Amino acid sequence: MHLLEQLELTVPVFQAPMAGVSTPSLAAEVSNAGGLGALGLGATKPEQARALIAEVRARTDRPFNVNLFVHLTPKVDVEREARWLEWLNPLFVEHGETAPEKLSSPYTSFLDDLEMQALLLEVKPPVISFHFGLPSAACVTALKQTGAVLLATVTSPAEAQAAEAAGMDAVIAQGIEAGGHRGMFDPHTPDDALGTLPLVRLLSRQCHGPVIAAGGIMDGAGLAAALDLGAVAAQMGTAFLLCPETGLDEAYRKALMGQAAFHTRMVSLISGRPRGLS
Ligand SMILES: Cc1cc2nc3c(=O)[nH]c(=O)nc-3n(C[C@H](O)[C@H](O)[C@H](O)COP(=O)(O)O)c2cc1C
Repeated sequence: MHLLEQLELTVPVFQAPMAGVSTPSLAAEVSNAGGLGALGLGATKPEQARALIAEVRARTDRPFNVNLFVHLTPKVDVEREARWLEWLNPLFVEHGETAPEKLSSPYTSFLDDLEMQALLLEVKPPVISFHFGLPSAACVTALKQTGAVLLATVTSPAEAQAAEAAGMDAVIAQGIEAGGHRGMFDPHTPDDALGTLPLVRLLSRQCHGPVIAAGGIMDGAGLAAALDLGAVAAQMGTAFLLCPETGLDEAYRKALMGQAAFHTRMVSLISGRPRGLS
């Protein structure tokens, strides 16, 4: 069956899961409007995730997506981290704060998070999407048995091939112009940095399953272009940022309404991975 029919979507729009920004009310509003709402759970602990999923279900009967980060957990390097803390210390002092004694990763990988895996098997979200990589084969099998539709962000033909081989039901083709973290599986491999439209075109010819376009799509004309190139839907993030339902703070909202919004930068300052910021 066509993915959109399977998900009962009347609008080919997936709201991007955005860790720290998407909320249950945004997800429910989008799903109620016929698109696919989403929760970004990449920085969320399992018990909080349980409450957020319950809140979406209280607001909509329609399918929605929950998104997890599946990165390789960074290896601890005590000496290197001590040097970072030494370098950062004056900044903490300048702001009247105490530097932490050690550094820790801001995100727990779904690969290591057995509690989150058990939670998803229990609460059975209708759609689950993965960013930065793929879950284990055993986890894919178990999640599929719940009836979940599984999606993965990919940024290249090789990642798309791996995602399909791992059993993903569809791939999200994320171009270099996408807002948020670039979902490459391994940030240390060479990056062809393909734009959304060429990537969608390549993948719509290569992939056996559906392709969802993500990156720089802000309106119906952009969506129509992506559909023309073979996508079945577009996943849009930036376009939703100013919705009243997002968790965006006032400073970020103000910046997005000014000139700064016309200048996108790739930075690696938030997690060490490439991230598009406006
Ligand atoms: C603020 C922000 C946070 C994001 N967080 C996530 C996330 O947690 N998980 C994810 O899969 N994608 C995340 N993304 C990327 C989106 O899924 C999508 O690839 C991107 O928004 C598409 O580009 P656009 O912003 O130009 O629409 C985020 C995007 C933005 C703008």
